[in-house]
Amino acid sequence: MLPSSVLVVGSGGREHALVQALLASPARPRVLCAPGNAGIAAEVTCFPIAADDIPGLVALARRERVAFVVVGPEVPLSLGLVDALAAENIPAYGPRADGARLEASKVFTKEILLKHRIPTAPAGVFTELEAALAYLRARRTPIVIKADGLAAGKGVVVAQNPAEAEAAVRDMLTDNKFGAAGSRVLIEDCLFGEETSLLVVVSGHHYIILPTSQDHKRVGDGDSGPNTGGMGTYSPAEVVTPALLDRIENEIVRPSVDAIAAEGIDFRGTLFIGIMLTADGPSVLEYNTRFGDPETQVVLPRLAEDLLALLWNAALGQITASRRAAETPAHALCVVLAAQGYPGAYAKGDVITPPAALPPGVKILHAGTARNAGGQLVSHGGRVLGVTALAPSLRQAADAAYRVCDQIELAGKIYRRDIGARQLQRR
Ligand code: AMP
Ligand code: GLY
Repeated sequence: MLPSSVLVVGSGGREHALVQALLASPARPRVLCAPGNAGIAAEVTCFPIAADDIPGLVALARRERVAFVVVGPEVPLSLGLVDALAAENIPAYGPRADGARLEASKVFTKEILLKHRIPTAPAGVFTELEAALAYLRARRTPIVIKADGLAAGKGVVVAQNPAEAEAAVRDMLTDNKFGAAGSRVLIEDCLFGEETSLLVVVSGHHYIILPTSQDHKRVGDGDSGPNTGGMGTYSPAEVVTPALLDRIENEIVRPSVDAIAAEGIDFRGTLFIGIMLTADGPSVLEYNTRFGDPETQVVLPRLAEDLLALLWNAALGQITASRRAAETPAHALCVVLAAQGYPGAYAKGDVITPPAALPPGVKILHAGTARNAGGQLVSHGGRVLGVTALAPSLRQAADAAYRVCDQIELAGKIYRRDIGARQLQRR
């Protein structure tokens, strides 16, 4: 029996995509969201409880007699939301705090990767400035400096020269730019190649691999400018050929799931594996312990299975065989519209006017949106909207999505013009 009601926790484009996929379940569950955004609120009831308010969310789930909770972001996972819900006998999808550490501590993950011989870049761990600087002097640049803890995707610096590397280490260890998250740093060899994001639904010893996708992390065209949470995605990522996916499954996915279980973690949730496709083979950049944003916006529309059943069975430990998820042959592409200034300081409260009608296959997923006192749709976050298109070819999906991006009115909107370009040019 599938649950009759589901509470989705979070407020981004990822959660909007999750809400829509759960609403499409043949089980027709009642779907709720906290805190949600203006777009989600147009489809389901939203409750103004922050994603990091653990007691508030547990109380809401009890009060609304929610049968199942799906957790979007990493912060409530690392704060133990799933543990707190379990204490009230409310099933939830997402790892407990012990599993969420795989994202919340890059040092913890690096130790597991190295111990279990899963391909990853060599790295050193430092809390003292002098030791870190000495290590830097012994390595070549470019080199990668990572804050150990959660930093909303901004705690990683790919330093091009020794001065940049030293500045990044000082920012983290001396100037506390990332607070406690940066009091320990990882200094990691730079890997070269294309990146891919693999989302895997894990249930203890078993897993289901979701459709492949590729994100665009830099804010500017041609991968220029600072790293962001993600500016656009497409699925499938054809750079991951069937043979390469077999290799990734054998060398990375299965060993990772086995390693996590061997560490005593009963992981039930999404393991998002960031992978660099190097000339020497695929190598793990990071684990996240949740769905990707904006990966989810292109992966879920291509999933040819009931998401509710998948997540429910994973949460209950009822997945008993590892496999690949069924997927549609269509191509999906998502372009993120962000506020001027993102990923730095950005404006809020700018009025958004979407086009009156959307072409077939195109959806506007909301991320940082709200309603102002006058009821107008306004920007309320760095990433504001995600225009998602599903079409028979990637070219058609890109053309349809970009037509709508051009039509959306939002003062100072920024978006990359080259989402999917790598795959389009390969053809
Ligand atoms: P992470 O949060 O660890 O995935 O890092 C964010 C981004 O930094 C990744 O998506 C990569 O683009 C880049 N990055 C992280 N680690 C490395 C590495 N060892 N070599 C090259 N780029 C990296
Ligand atoms: N798009 C990358 C992430 O969700 O971390």
